[in-house]
Amino acid sequence: MIDIANKSALVTGGGRGIGRDIALKLAKAGADVAVSDIDLETAQKVASEIEALGRRSLPIKADVSNSDSVTEMVTAFTEKFEKIDVLVNNAGITRDGLIMRMKEEDWDAVLNVNLKSCFLCCKAVSRTMMKAREGVIINIASVVGLMGNIGQANYSASKAGMIGLTKTLAREFASRGIRVNAVAPGFIQSAMTDKLSDQDRERFLAGIPLGRLGTADAIANGVLYLASPLADYVTGQVLTIDGGLVM
Ligand SMILES: NC(=O)c1ccc[n+]([C@@H]2O[C@H](COP(=O)([O-])OP(=O)(O)OC[C@H]3O[C@@H](n4cnc5c(N)ncnc54)[C@H](O)[C@@H]3O)[C@@H](O)[C@H]2O)c1
Repeated sequence: MIDIANKSALVTGGGRGIGRDIALKLAKAGADVAVSDIDLETAQKVASEIEALGRRSLPIKADVSNSDSVTEMVTAFTEKFEKIDVLVNNAGITRDGLIMRMKEEDWDAVLNVNLKSCFLCCKAVSRTMMKAREGVIINIASVVGLMGNIGQANYSASKAGMIGLTKTLAREFASRGIRVNAVAPGFIQSAMTDKLSDQDRERFLAGIPLGRLGTADAIANGVLYLASPLADYVTGQVLTIDGGLVM
């Protein structure tokens, strides 16, 4: 059993899907966990579930693509928890389409919510983590950031960008005891993949050696490992959790 008692964590986009599973997994391992989401109602529900586990929680409404909102989120977090041990940049969106038809606003929206958010959130927690001389940042990227995907120019570029940002911050923060890693989920059963056409689903399944979609729980397990002392010599890495899709 991995124990991260007395740690405090912030999970963005934690109101549902993979983020919710990550928030609950960290709480079950002993951490206090704040749940931020653009949809406050879902964040409140998850925060109640965390409190029911006997941990402290805080629902925070935040649009992570907006710098003022991110500053307010981190201020609210540090007012309640004083220190931030773990940041999980999980919030993300898709606006799929072939590049010839992709609207500039769809490019901007995806890059802002997926990549700019990661820059803003990492920057916002960096001072506190550096002062503490410890901390863990985990960025939820995607296998499509490694291999590309038809119809996801914006999304795959944002996730590849997150991976580059992860490696740079791992180097910038290493001397201060802060570890920065990415998790690259493959195709996970979720609201995001429920939107896939049957044809796309079959195409993706054919490329997955383990022959099935992953679960949010599998991603949360990887995040818990990276957040824990078991990974204390791991930084700048991309942990693919994808049934063998990328190897
Ligand atoms: N589902 C998959 O198969 C899959 C695969 C690879 C990577 N991922 C990544 O995992 C993460 C979670 O994916 P999911 O499938 O759980 O998605 P989801 O759509 O179920 O959940 C995303 C959450 O982010 C929140 N959110 C959206 N925009 C936001 C904003 N501007 N500010 C704050 N919160 C915002 C949403 O309200 C939602 O609660 C994403 O970064 C996604 O790109 C998912």
